[in-house]
Amino acid sequence: MSNRARHIAIIMDGNGRWAQAQGKNRTAGHEKGAETVRRITTFCAENDEIERLTLYAFSTENWKRPKLEVEFLMKLLEKYLKNELKTYLEGNIRFEPIGDLSSFSPSLRKTIERVREETARCSGLVQSLALNYGAQDEIVRAANALLGRGETISAESLGHALDTNENVDLLIRTGGDHRLSNFLLWQSAYAELFFTDTLWPDFTTAEFERIIKKFKTVERRFGGLN
Ligand code: IPE
Ligand code: IPE
Ligand code: MG
Repeated sequence: MSNRARHIAIIMDGNGRWAQAQGKNRTAGHEKGAETVRRITTFCAENDEIERLTLYAFSTENWKRPKLEVEFLMKLLEKYLKNELKTYLEGNIRFEPIGDLSSFSPSLRKTIERVREETARCSGLVQSLALNYGAQDEIVRAANALLGRGETISAESLGHALDTNENVDLLIRTGGDHRLSNFLLWQSAYAELFFTDTLWPDFTTAEFERIIKKFKTVERRFGGLN
């Protein structure tokens, strides 16, 4: 028996340190990190077993960073989405954002919406980008939506009210830290967690494949007995 990595989630960490290690500005790390996003997304799109890839791109806490870095990240995101529309369509990849998009500029929101709409009919990999995403914020927004509709809160109703109700099979964090930083707390209830010291710009498909291979051998019990 081997596990299927249907839904892989990644905390893409280490861009800033990658750049600083080479005496560059942190923003150079984000630019390089965007290349890794393309590489890993394309790899997943070509792998039949992987149905969904959720990438943590900007957290609800990342607004605390210097204004210039935040602005750079916003511009990079917009540029990435515009440039990669071709990659999405050619790879039959559907783009699905999660997070509270209401804080973004009208222009960025329009680009996000356009890519979402233009890839809506793609039936291959779902690439979900977590944008202004925080799991606590997501759960609070979901609970308030249920309360607003006068619905009772159950694990089922709350799950459906979340930005995404897709359970994570494999969660990877690059960059050496062993924490979740408010990412998919609900959906990762039974995720297998893998941490690597590799900084996100250096993360290769070869390492990714090694992690998936290891994931396949883990005994997942979900609280029961095998
Ligand atoms: C992750 O890399 C990307 C974002 C949070 C946007 P960091 O920017 O956190 O890089 P480090 O962790 O400081 O090296
Ligand atoms: C997590 O990385 C957020 C993203 C990768 C987008 P951070 O660098 O923000 O996390 P902390 O601050 O080290 O926990
Ligand atoms: Mg970081």
